[in-house]
Amino acid sequence: MILLVAAEKGGVGKSTIATNLAAHLASQSIDLVMVDADIQATCTNWVARRDELKRSPAVPCVQRSGEVASTLRELDRRYAVVIVDAGGRDSREMRTAMAVANLLIIPTQASQADLETFPKMNELVALARGLNPDLNASAVLSRAPSNPVIREVEEARELLTQFEQLQLADTVIRDRKVYRDALLAGKGVTELDNSQARAEIQLLAQEFFDLN
Ligand SMILES: Nc1ncnc2c1ncn2[C@@H]1O[C@H](COP(=O)(O)OP(=O)(O)OP(=O)(O)O)[C@@H](O)[C@H]1O
Ligand SMILES: [Mg+2]
Repeated sequence: MILLVAAEKGGVGKSTIATNLAAHLASQSIDLVMVDADIQATCTNWVARRDELKRSPAVPCVQRSGEVASTLRELDRRYAVVIVDAGGRDSREMRTAMAVANLLIIPTQASQADLETFPKMNELVALARGLNPDLNASAVLSRAPSNPVIREVEEARELLTQFEQLQLADTVIRDRKVYRDALLAGKGVTELDNSQARAEIQLLAQEFFDLN
């Protein structure tokens, strides 16, 4: 199965979600590969730090740019899960990956500027479904304020239900320092001792993957 993590907006937590799902699924003995389709190379660097620290399980990662559909199809035959980080902005990588992905996860912050990109994402998913009718697409609220007094998440939830092409994940990824620490340490939060972040990634994985 090909999981694409993409968004039109930069800095919304795409690479954080991609690397955390990769670390968690790999720890569940799922044979996976990451495809870093972002020239910023966040996932590649995360994997390099992981390898340096000799973290187990190792997560294989390849870098690709431009038309990525054929690479993804080929990797999909060899691995149980292919996780693609398409980088910020609308790109050739994002569009060609959408044509072959089984699942698209679109992380978004609960802010107006981020939510404004959703009409276009909704349209891109509609276009992609012309080629790839089984594409499953879900928004995931990410970097959300952990203070329950802030109503942004509820407001964003309401807004996101308007897009007929997109589902909305139940799991919300909150803004927690441990996500930044994990990225720097070449780890996933499920390998660190923050039970709240660990629960978020486990729940997110359960929403999209058949895990026992
Ligand atoms: N849930 C979170 N809690 C705290 N910090 C986070 C969270 N998610 C992401 N960050 C931090 O925010 C920054 C941007 O995150 P990330 O690199 O995952 O976003 P991105 O969407 O991949 O960005 P880009 O568009 O540049 O590829 C990083 O410093 C990351 O550590
Ligand atoms: Mg990124």
